[in-house]
Amino acid sequence: MSTLRQFPGQGPEDFFMKPAEQLPLTDECHHYESKKEVPWDIQKYFAQRYSIFSLYDDGVCMTDDAWFGVTPEPIANQVAYDMFSNDDSKTTIIDVFAGAGGNSIAFALAERWQRVISVEKDASTLACAQNNASVYGVGTGIITWVHGDSFEYIDALVNRPETLHPDLRVDPESTMVFASPPWGGPGYSTDEVFDLSTMQPYNLQQLYDAYKKMDHALFLPRTSDIRQIAKLAPADEKLEVVQYCMEGASKALVAYIPASKAGS
Ligand SMILES: C[S@@+](CC[C@H](N)C(=O)[O-])C[C@H]1O[C@@H](n2cnc3c(N)ncnc32)[C@H](O)[C@@H]1O
Repeated sequence: MSTLRQFPGQGPEDFFMKPAEQLPLTDECHHYESKKEVPWDIQKYFAQRYSIFSLYDDGVCMTDDAWFGVTPEPIANQVAYDMFSNDDSKTTIIDVFAGAGGNSIAFALAERWQRVISVEKDASTLACAQNNASVYGVGTGIITWVHGDSFEYIDALVNRPETLHPDLRVDPESTMVFASPPWGGPGYSTDEVFDLSTMQPYNLQQLYDAYKKMDHALFLPRTSDIRQIAKLAPADEKLEVVQYCMEGASKALVAYIPASKAGS
C-alpha cells in the first residue's frame, strides 16, 4: 500500500500542482483554412503551415500568438532524437514551455522517454497542444499535461516534491528539461548577435538558474551570443551547441547544458 503525502489537513485535490484535464478549445483557438481568415501579421507563418505541422489539415489548432513560437516539425523531430542520443540514461523529459505542442508531440512520438511532462501557462494554448497531440495520434496519458507556471513546477520538483501530485514527482537525476522560451526583447530579430541577458520575459541567467540542477536544453535564437552560453559550462566540461537548419537556413540553436554538480 502506498501513502501519499499532502499538505496537512488537505485532500488529494489540493496539491500545489496536479496534471491538467483535457481542456476545452476556446475562442482563441483557431484552425484557419484560408489566408483571408488569417490576421496579417501571421500570414507568413500560415504560408509555412505544412512545414510547421505536416498534419495541419487534420485539425491542428493554434492561438494567434502560438504561430510566432511553434517549433517546426522537422526540427522538433531532430531535437527529440538528439536529446535522447545525448544521454540515454534519462527516462523523463519535461517540456517547460509546451506552447502549441510542437516539441511535446515530437518527444511523445519518439517513444524514447518513459515520461513526457508538458507545462504551459496559457489555457487556450494548452488546449491547442492537447488537441494537436491527438491529431498526431499521441494517445491519452502518454503526455502528462500541466496547466501552470513551469518555474513554480521545477522549483517544487527540486525543493518540495511532496507538494506535487504524485504523477508530477519524477527523479531529477533521470530527468532532462527542454525549454523553448519566448524570444521577446529588443533586437532578437535584428541584432547580428543577440544579447541573451536582454531576452524577455526570461533571460539566459533566469533560465539557467531554474534548471541548473538537471541536464537541460535551451532552444534559443540562432544569433544568440555563444560566449554567454559558454560561460554556463561546468568547470572542465564542454557543452554542445547545435544549429538547426531547414531549407538552407538556421532556425534556432539548442544549447545542451549538463547539470551543475556543485549546485551553484
Ligand atoms: C516559444 S513558445 C513554445 C513553443 C513550443 N515549443 C511549440 O513548439 O509549440 C513559449 C510558450 O511558453 C509559454 N510560457 C511562457 N511563460 C511560461 C511559464 N512561466 N510557464 C509555462 N509556460 C510559459 C507561453 O504561453 C508560450 O506558449
